[in-house]
Amino acid sequence: MDRRVFLKSATGTFCLAVADPVLRSVAAPAIPSNAVPLLFGVDYYPDQTEESLWEQDARMMAEFGVTNVRIAEFAWSFMEPAEGKYDFAWLHKSVDILRAQKMAVILGTPSAAPPPWLSQKYPEVLMVNDHGMTVSPEGRRFTCPSNKLYRQLSVAMATGMAKSFASTPGVIGWQIDNEYTLQTFGRCYCNSCRAGFQEWLRARYGSLDALNKTWGTAFWSQVYTDFSQVPVPLPSGGPPNPGMALDYYRYQSHANVASLEEQLIVLRKLCPNHFITTNNVPLLADTVNAYDLFAKVDFVSYDNYPGFASIHAQGGDSGTSLPLDLIASTIALMHDASRSIKGGKPFLVMEEQSGKAGQPTFSPQPDKGQLKLWSYQAVAHGAMGINYFRWDTARFGAEEYWHGLLNHDRAKSPGYGEVAQTIQELKGLGPVALNSSYRADVALCFDYDADWATAIQPGQPKVKYGTEVSLWYGSLWGGHIGVDIVDATQNLSRYKVLFAPLLYVVSERQARTIRDFVGNGGVFVTGFRLGAKDSGSQIVNLPLPGLLRDVMGVTLVDYVPIYSEKQGVKFSSLLSGPDAECHIWADVLKPESAGVLATYTMGDYAGQAAITKNGFGKGSAFYLGARLDPADLGRVLNIIAASAGVKPALQAASGVEVATRRAGESSWTFVLNHTSRPQSVTLEKAYKEQISGGTVSGTITLEPYGVRVLT
Ligand code: GAL
Ligand code: ZN
Repeated sequence: MDRRVFLKSATGTFCLAVADPVLRSVAAPAIPSNAVPLLFGVDYYPDQTEESLWEQDARMMAEFGVTNVRIAEFAWSFMEPAEGKYDFAWLHKSVDILRAQKMAVILGTPSAAPPPWLSQKYPEVLMVNDHGMTVSPEGRRFTCPSNKLYRQLSVAMATGMAKSFASTPGVIGWQIDNEYTLQTFGRCYCNSCRAGFQEWLRARYGSLDALNKTWGTAFWSQVYTDFSQVPVPLPSGGPPNPGMALDYYRYQSHANVASLEEQLIVLRKLCPNHFITTNNVPLLADTVNAYDLFAKVDFVSYDNYPGFASIHAQGGDSGTSLPLDLIASTIALMHDASRSIKGGKPFLVMEEQSGKAGQPTFSPQPDKGQLKLWSYQAVAHGAMGINYFRWDTARFGAEEYWHGLLNHDRAKSPGYGEVAQTIQELKGLGPVALNSSYRADVALCFDYDADWATAIQPGQPKVKYGTEVSLWYGSLWGGHIGVDIVDATQNLSRYKVLFAPLLYVVSERQARTIRDFVGNGGVFVTGFRLGAKDSGSQIVNLPLPGLLRDVMGVTLVDYVPIYSEKQGVKFSSLLSGPDAECHIWADVLKPESAGVLATYTMGDYAGQAAITKNGFGKGSAFYLGARLDPADLGRVLNIIAASAGVKPALQAASGVEVATRRAGESSWTFVLNHTSRPQSVTLEKAYKEQISGGTVSGTITLEPYGVRVLT
């Protein structure tokens, strides 16, 4: 996917950062001495701005109300104009000017875009795309993730920066690289990657025998007799071996994570008082495993551009529009993932849309109220701070169309006032709210093996892992149910329900985790293709659904890709309701110990089970064999959640989002109207409303895109 589609010791790192007397005053007035400063900032480009404007910019930012900036992540050309010749004087000057206005600085390391001298001198660092074509060093993110030389050059650059800024007043943290997963070509297929892959396989498998067995290289005479024979999945005279392809996706993710960690080691050593993060879009931009990418950094940072969703919702190949709910819920999913990936730690929005967005085309101008709504949405789901992208709007370069808070002529943008007011309001929530936790009663599984294996062999071309996860998430979002994202390998006992669509690959560890979860009283809800493959990417040598057959209490009669023909679904008992259609896929189920909640109505499988429920241990397991349309899916998932005792925080109309954060006895319930119409919400008790400071009860009406924070 390209443009389309803390705190380990939060207090620790930040307290050190706020030892600086100027920055201490950056913190909100009532900040307790042991808390973190509030991070409301902008992304800023002194490297793209005439020096004569730096002071004015810093003064205006202070007036605007922000207290930090993120800078330098695309300034390699200026920081190392020739190999080994570093120039940080300009950047120090910029940091000093910003600090004089009480701006804390997050520095970005620039490995996402090396300068032309580097790619000219070392052309071997360039990425090779999935068609074997060397990518031109023209845009950004065109380098190979495994190339040792490029990694050394990146580490040397980060080391130079770290040495120069380790004790520079004003600097509080680092962003490593920029968006590891958002680029035109998601994976590299160069010779360096091929050699790296072979090395990685040697470590993973130990012997060629094990590799040959796992991949099943007996098929099409692919038996490897030396690791150096192993190819990468470039175009050939037939599809690649699926085991090889899955391992290659894993290896590419590993190479990116390893390159981040090399910079991390240096920054940790040289800048022990600074926090370190990286900004990315998790899950749906899926070339790097986000659980691994963020494992060792201090907190997750995420770049939030709801406008992209609008562009792609309306453009796309089909020319059809995505429903509004799906856009809002997809953004919510990204936020929930950003919070969940590090076990619920508050995350930072490193970049937040602040106007019309786009590279060659513009996204729509956000309606009045939407910029504010999107900021509150991020905070509702666990953000501790937000940087707006970007301060000004570039008059040159690939993102001339990407509107910041100042227009091309440096006049205030249409959203300027709204964002300034939002920042004041959000600061007013205070550090306790911004660092509070988000308690979800249910979890949704996102598993990269299942994702990648499905991409390699979708079974039916319309089967897409990200789509299924988004649809299931969207159903729960529509039911106003808070959701954590998990990979189903950790202890799940705090959840009432685990939802896991399209879990095509099930590892032994996941099978154990899920079996224990259900055995101990949890409710497991899953869908078609469950457990068809093992972690080696072989089809399991068991009746489906494989390792979880006893938990589900069913055996698959057949799995059926659906193309132009139709299949109908008739619901009964718990799920009673109007008949539905099943498109794309149908797993036909034979209940062993399970009860039947829906049957197919057409063709050879009419009357056979489509949805089942099995009691297992103290819990239960639901199998949705039929791939339902979103409205039917929403109904079914919400009935199951309700039957498991999951209650929405508030009852609200579709398009109104509800999310709750908690700290001790305190809670903040965010009510967010994503629609352009007024919406009413009925409250069961009286609340204090944080933005207005008033008390609210009974039926309240939210204006279009209106926001309320209830405590
Ligand atoms: C982000 C990226 C920024 C800028 C922004 C607008 O994803 O990190 O550098 O490109 O999008 O396109
Ligand atoms: Zn490569």
